[in-house]
Amino acid sequence: MRQSHSRTSSVIRRLAFVVVAAVSLSAGLMLTSCNPKESTEAGPQAIVANTVDDHSYARPQEARVRHVDLDLTADFQSKTLRGTATLKLDTEANAKQVILDTRALDIEKVTGASGVPLKYTLGKGDEMMGKPLTIELPQGAQTVIVYYRTTIAGTALQWLDPSQTAGKRKPFLFSQGEEIHTRTWIPTQDSPSIRQTYTARIVVPSDLMAVMSAKRLTPKGEAVPGHANQRAYRFEMDKPIAPYLIAIAVGDLGFREEGKRTGVFAEKAMLDKAAYEFADMESMLDAAEKLYGPYQWGRYDVLVLPPSFPYGGMENPTMTFATPTVLAGDRSLVSLVAHELAHSWSGNLVTNATWEDFWLNEGFTVYFENRIMEQVYGPERAKMLEVLGYNDLQQTMKDLNDSNQTDFTRLHPDLKGINPDDYFSDVPYEKGAAFLRMLEAKFGRKKFDAYLKGYFHRYAFQSMTTEAFVADLRVNLLHNDTDLEKQLKIHQWLYDKGMPDNVVVPTSPVLDQVAQQAQAFAIGGAAKTLNVTDYNTQQWQYFLTKMPETLTLDQMTDLDATFAFTKTHNSEILFAWLMLAVQHHYQPAMPALREFLVSQGRGKFCKPLYAALMKQPGWGVDTARRIYAEARPGYHEVTRAGVDKLVK
Ligand code: BES
Ligand code: ZN
Repeated sequence: MRQSHSRTSSVIRRLAFVVVAAVSLSAGLMLTSCNPKESTEAGPQAIVANTVDDHSYARPQEARVRHVDLDLTADFQSKTLRGTATLKLDTEANAKQVILDTRALDIEKVTGASGVPLKYTLGKGDEMMGKPLTIELPQGAQTVIVYYRTTIAGTALQWLDPSQTAGKRKPFLFSQGEEIHTRTWIPTQDSPSIRQTYTARIVVPSDLMAVMSAKRLTPKGEAVPGHANQRAYRFEMDKPIAPYLIAIAVGDLGFREEGKRTGVFAEKAMLDKAAYEFADMESMLDAAEKLYGPYQWGRYDVLVLPPSFPYGGMENPTMTFATPTVLAGDRSLVSLVAHELAHSWSGNLVTNATWEDFWLNEGFTVYFENRIMEQVYGPERAKMLEVLGYNDLQQTMKDLNDSNQTDFTRLHPDLKGINPDDYFSDVPYEKGAAFLRMLEAKFGRKKFDAYLKGYFHRYAFQSMTTEAFVADLRVNLLHNDTDLEKQLKIHQWLYDKGMPDNVVVPTSPVLDQVAQQAQAFAIGGAAKTLNVTDYNTQQWQYFLTKMPETLTLDQMTDLDATFAFTKTHNSEILFAWLMLAVQHHYQPAMPALREFLVSQGRGKFCKPLYAALMKQPGWGVDTARRIYAEARPGYHEVTRAGVDKLVK
């Protein structure tokens, strides 16, 4: 169900990057900080240290950012953040310059710690990567201060008018950094292999609250001398994180505690609903810790965003950002919280070093998410979710084959010159998880869990590549048994297209029965004769995806009359239903389709629906164009980019 989009046609080659393959450089200059004891040439850390991130202009071997200090003011009139980013650097002895990533930023000036202006140049760059900001460093300099402001052309920040919020009275701002968008609001080295701590002071209108993916030092904000209509909020993230995880939101927010370490932020108008939905957060956190070791980030809160948030969730440390479409009213879609929480280990603690290693974040997380769901809600529900995910993967593999994008069926794709957003699909998620499940089945849970726990411990606060992961796997799980490695088809899983034949296909007896009911209906049974009482959300989802292509309008009408799908408030069920409605041109659902597409902007829902409409010549294409013209202004830049490619 996670859509992949087609390759951008105009790929401009980035400036050549010189690979400095110097294993002997001091540890602090390498991509990850190295434990000298372990950094043999073949060891995982050395492999990571020598990996080049094609999606960043930075040259961390010469000068790398280790801390970012932001002092920014949010101006909702001009829709800009303006202020300074003070960067602390680790530099090689005779480093002459530091190179930062920027895109769509207005750079006003750059100084050293004392305020002396430093020379800088903004390179030509390209549309996808942005422009390298090269700053000349005086001998021994370890601090640079960049004075800048963001521009409307940036893609990380979305500034919402009051009408686009739940409360309708106050504006809203949020950021979405993953994958290479942070450079459009912070001039820094925007590579997931260059971990940075951060501090921030954020000045906002006094009727709004600012939150970030960090410890909140001033939960209520503090006065800004001379500016009665403003308040300042301060934050600190003292653990080194990848820059795509630096995040901000500003709005009319309230907070509700869930457990000792957990809580919910949302617009005040949404707070009750959000607090009800996420009541199990603390149990999820406990379950996660029991599996793979202590939670390292202090608090775990969820922030519910306005409906234009382009993703289901985003694992910003200490504060997951989430779509309001997950608020079903019955806690049926909370696997999303389990997923984002799991990223606190897979992704935030051990981080993909490049975007070609994205499956290390998402595949591990889907696996871990399912283990949390099993703990908290039982094996039956977990199995249903697993089967739904595996089904989506089958469909995605087929779609990628049909559209000649078989390269994207690899866990480790070649993304040179390709926007990493374009690789987004079920492959890194579900094929990645399927790979780990194959290992689990082979070694048994006990051994495999011990391995995973050890992995998170060994590489905590470090970045990982696929190759380094294999090196670790060989030592710590395969015990250098090369025959076993071949037998498990490790290389094929990670580097080849399609699905290896030793995949463990998940089954769910409950969903098997659902498939039987779907079949009974397909061959002519009336909806009211079906045995579907007390179906939960996952059963309905499965039921709807099992409807045959031959479904008639009479059957659609019968389903709707019996189960009122067009009126459901569950976003996942509505989405599955609307997909059918488009495929079978079921007219009575069209007003609901329009309403759904203009009232939320989650890519996972919007892109497949527009794509399905565009497959229907005449009425479908017209409908897609008409609805998109109305909805597009409200969508986030990421969703726009995806839908722009579909609706022409
Ligand atoms: N990290 C992702 C979101 C993401 C991926 C943002 C790539 C930008 C680029 C997040 O953890 C995620 O996977 N979200 C899913 C929901 C989840 C339940 C599978 C989503 O948004 O659909
Ligand atoms: Zn994820």
